[in-house]
Formats: sequence, C-alpha cells, structure tokens
Amino acid sequence: MSDIEQAPPGVDITVPSPARMYDYMLGGTANYKVDREAAEQLRKAMPDMVDTAWANRGFLQRSVRWLAERGIRQFIDIGAGLPTGNNTHDAAQAVAPDARVLYADYDPLVEIHAKTLLEGVSGTAVITADFRDPDGLLGDERTLATIDFTQPVALLLVTVTHFVSEEEDPWGLVREYMSRLTPGSYLALSAVTSDRQVEGRIDDIKGVLARSSSRGGYPRSRAEIERYFTGLEIVPPYEGAAAEVCYFGEWGAEDPDAADSDGSRWGYCAVARKPE
Ligand SMILES: C[S@@+](CC[C@H](N)C(=O)[O-])C[C@H]1O[C@@H](n2cnc3c(N)ncnc32)[C@H](O)[C@@H]1O
Repeated sequence: MSDIEQAPPGVDITVPSPARMYDYMLGGTANYKVDREAAEQLRKAMPDMVDTAWANRGFLQRSVRWLAERGIRQFIDIGAGLPTGNNTHDAAQAVAPDARVLYADYDPLVEIHAKTLLEGVSGTAVITADFRDPDGLLGDERTLATIDFTQPVALLLVTVTHFVSEEEDPWGLVREYMSRLTPGSYLALSAVTSDRQVEGRIDDIKGVLARSSSRGGYPRSRAEIERYFTGLEIVPPYEGAAAEVCYFGEWGAEDPDAADSDGSRWGYCAVARKPE
C-alpha cells in the first residue's frame, strides 16, 4: 500500500471516521491510515472489537432475513456504514427479490462507496443524511422514491444510536421515526453497552470516539437500550425464545451457547413491532 493516500473530494482523511474504522475491523479496504490507527487504539480498550463487529453484523443479517420472511418488503437502514458484503439488500432480497432498501449514513464516503456496491442492484438507494434530522432523511426525494410510507417498513438502527448524545435525545429520535411508520412496521436496533465496566475501558472508548468525526461515543446500559423499544412489542427471534433484548450474537442464533462470545457481550439488540 502506498504511503500517499488519496481520497475522493469531500472526504476528510485527517480525522478518523467511525464508518471507515468499522470497515477496517471487518477487513474492508475503504479506510485510511488515520482510521486504522484509531481502530487499533480502540482495540486496546476493546480487545474483542472484531468479534463484536461480526456479532453485530450477524444480528443485522439474521434480523433482516427474519423480517423479510414475515413479509416486510421495505427497509430503511440508517448508519448503514461501508461493509463490502452481506448487506441489508443481500439478506432481504435473498428471501424477497422485490425488497427495497434505502441506505442512509452521514459519512460522505458511504454514498460514494455504495454507488459501486449497488451498481445494477434494483430496489436500492443510498443517501448522505443524518439520523438526527428525520425530516431531511425521510423527506429526501430518493427516500420517497424508494419507500411507500403507506406500507410497513423495517427501520434498522444497527450500532448507530450510540453516536448520539443524551442532549440530542436518541430515544426521542427513535420515537419520532417510528411515529412516521405505519402500524405493523418494525424497529431492529443494536447498540454498544457500557455494562462491561472493565476499569477505564469505557472512558478509553469514549476518548477514541471523541477524537473521531462523530465527536463522541455513548455506550449505554441495558436499561437505557431497552428504552428504545418503549411502546413497541419486542418479538422473540424463534419459537420459545424470550421476547427481550439480548446480546448481539444471541439474536436468532442457531446455537445461542456458541454465539455467546465475549465480543457479542459488548452490545444489546432486539427487534420490535409497532402495534396496530
Ligand atoms: C458501527 S457503524 C455501523 C454500520 C452498520 N449499521 C452495521 O451495524 O453493520 C456506525 C455507522 O453509523 C454512522 N453514523 C453515526 N452517526 C450517524 C448519524 N448521526 N447519522 C447517520 N449516520 C451516522 C457512521 O458513519 C457509521 O457508518
């Protein structure tokens, strides 16, 4: 790899970006030296970070398949990131080729990268938009061209709310998005937890993220993550499973014991339905 890095116009490679750091964790190539260095700092606080990222990707893929199998044909994936494979449309369209996916992320490289990834893939669109701006994101003409808001939608907020501070009220934002969706819609959400209080680690994680383009990171407790599902009905991933938030790897896992790794325990997730 050359020492001289070049980035597309509008992409700042002097500050690490969580989207590009995540891409690095997942073995992708859409990242720069500054991202790799920040990710390695993160690894010191979170030695299981690669396992955590894959456990979270597993939740995304299994939950999207689960939703498509229950008839959901529209997905809004906010904070979609850059991963090069097994994305939301891959999981959804494997079940339902007519499934439509609107990807949104505020990192400008995501839209650039996704244009190549999504070339020739029908039913998908990608926009550069901020989760904290529901009007802008849901009102974008590409959103309106992709999503029919008279029909149920699955809103995917997969490891994105922990970039939103208390003051910016991520719970209110989730409520706002769900209020715009018809009953029978779903929320699939995962978030990194602060429950793993190994001395100093949460502060170190926050420190790395404070120096990134997100300007902060907010791992939260189980109770705080449960609050995202207030007013919704959490669904069990399979018959006999509990209808409650669980660790990333456990959701819908064929072998929950094997999936219960240290990396998986860095975050909680659930899928919930908006009642009639
Ligand atoms: C850890 S990655 C998650 C990617 C993917 N959702 C997954 O879980 O595999 C977090 C993503 O959220 C994006 N993000 C963070 N805050 C955001 C915001 N306010 N609006 C839109 N995207 C945001 C980042 O740019 C990054 O791509």
